[in-house]
Amino acid sequence: MYTLLRILKWTGIILLIVAFILVAAVFSRQDLQFEAPLPELHASMDSAVIAHGEYLVNGPAHCSGCHTDNAHEAAYLRGETVPMHGGYAFKLPVGTVFSKNITNNQEHGIGRLTDPEIARTLRYGVGSDGRAILDFMPYYMLSDEDLTAVISYLRTLPGNAHAVPADDLNFIGKAVKAFLIKPAGPLGTERPKGMRPDTTAAYGEYLANSVANCVGCHTARDLMTGAFTGKPFAGWMNMEGNVPGTFFNTPNLTPEPTTGHLANWTFEVFQARFRSGPVFPESPMPWASFRRMRDADLKAIWNYLQTLPPVVQETGPLKAPKEHG
Ligand code: HEC
Ligand code: HEC
Repeated sequence: MYTLLRILKWTGIILLIVAFILVAAVFSRQDLQFEAPLPELHASMDSAVIAHGEYLVNGPAHCSGCHTDNAHEAAYLRGETVPMHGGYAFKLPVGTVFSKNITNNQEHGIGRLTDPEIARTLRYGVGSDGRAILDFMPYYMLSDEDLTAVISYLRTLPGNAHAVPADDLNFIGKAVKAFLIKPAGPLGTERPKGMRPDTTAAYGEYLANSVANCVGCHTARDLMTGAFTGKPFAGWMNMEGNVPGTFFNTPNLTPEPTTGHLANWTFEVFQARFRSGPVFPESPMPWASFRRMRDADLKAIWNYLQTLPPVVQETGPLKAPKEHG
């Protein structure tokens, strides 16, 4: 009996020490530094380049949907151009993460970042302070020209002194940050070169995968790791909406006659659907940005979707009654 108690006591002490070491490790690993090249890309003053950047940021690349704050969400949904001073709160199981101020304010915005630092953030997922940027922005394969256009437009945004709160991660979030999060990009070495907007499926492929990230939501994924588990564009990703407790199923966009969501659509129906904006205001799909997409870009995406291998995949109602397993 006495020995058993002694063993229990020592097991308890050892467990406590292990727990203490783990907690200490988690807290000591909150400022990990990562390395990645600084792309030699610089903002241009050319008005055509800036206009292209403005179109990307407020249209297909939908930066504005995330980089404003919750107070401007209604204006964003109405289709207004909203200030990009950040602060939108993403409430996740790991804690609350805030989008950052990407106006040119020196203290609170990107005024303190160099152009190559902004480019590295978007291409390699490494921030100016060496931190791993959370994988909200899969623009890793943007062409040099488009990344330059985006930065050129951001540089025209007057500085806005809106201070964004620091991320508020819970212990699990801190543990994930300490041991799991690594910079996610880039996704390959062959970055598209000289992409020129046209209506071809090739340009549509670039838009749907590297600019508008249709693939990121319209493919089933493991919600813990973000890893793709389903066939590309076959849908069936279950996502929480912008209002907590609302859930959506992404439809199958492959050209499959029985379960494909677009099977009975023509391009005109697709185009009209994009022009009309969100049906469900709490949908996570950034309809208000995509609504601004040019007809030619919509046509390119449509043409690309028709070239996908058809996948039989039921996806249920767009607005789901609850989370699916
Ligand atoms: C789905 C939401 C979302 C979209 C879309 C989005 N961002 Fe972000 N962005 C975030 C979040 C969240 C962070 C903070 C990530 C972090 O700190 O790890 C962030 C951080 C940044 C930063 C780092 C700022 C700093 O102070 O270090 C830059 C620059 C940036 N975003 C630019 C952009 C641009 C440009 C686009 C469009 C091409 C864009 N973002 C689209 C959510 C988004
Ligand atoms: C952030 C996630 C997200 C992104 C990015 C996204 N979608 Fe969606 N999509 C959804 C969700 C969720 C739904 C179901 C809810 C709804 O209809 O708003 C949906 C619905 C749709 C529908 C059906 C709409 C209807 O009313 O029948 C189409 C078509 C569609 N998406 C195409 C696209 C295309 C094309 C892109 C890229 C340009 C894209 N989506 C990008 C999440 C996303």
